[in-house]
Amino acid sequence: MIQTGPDKYPMSDFKEIIASKAEIKQIVSRIAGQISSSYAGKKLLVCGILKGAFIFMSDLVRQITIPAELTFMKASSYGGGASSSGDVKVAEFSELAAYGGFDILGIDDILDTGRTLCRLKEHLSAKGFASVEFCALLDKAERRESEISVKYVGKKIKNEFVVGYGLDYAEKYRDLPFIAALDDKIYGN
Ligand code: IMP
Ligand code: MG
Repeated sequence: MIQTGPDKYPMSDFKEIIASKAEIKQIVSRIAGQISSSYAGKKLLVCGILKGAFIFMSDLVRQITIPAELTFMKASSYGGGASSSGDVKVAEFSELAAYGGFDILGIDDILDTGRTLCRLKEHLSAKGFASVEFCALLDKAERRESEISVKYVGKKIKNEFVVGYGLDYAEKYRDLPFIAALDDKIYGN
């Protein structure tokens, strides 16, 4: 039975758990280990892509064992629904020119068509970072339309709309402590 906590969301909103709290914890610690060794001795700037990545990023940076500075960007493509508009808007929240010589690591919640990260790669590549890499908690590989290399991936999933742990459907369910596939009756409405 799917547990959501005391009456937070009806369990019937979800059809399947995609990543439990325990699995997410394991994924975060594995990726944090990889990042900690890859960037040892470097100036690491971790850049969360809002809003979806904020919970993943906050868990991840606390498990990374080397110092990192933090910033955020916003990439909007989905509007309120569940299908990509294809037009990705980018907004910065700090002056990235101040981070000369840093290696930037963009953190995203989910890699879908790849358009968002392609657009961000283009944006960040023009800023003079020592390197530009990406990390995504989830990867819907079969949906890919744009060629993008993502160095750190938490879990490959099938083509289902998922919510929780930062991921939303029309701004709902970000506060769910695990990741679940949304039931078709909600997705369709
Ligand atoms: P892409 O540009 O198609 O790769 O889309 C990436 C963005 O779309 C993610 O950062 C999410 O905000 C959103 N997205 C894609 N698939 C899902 C999903 O299954 N649940 C929630 N958001 C999603
Ligand atoms: Mg979203």
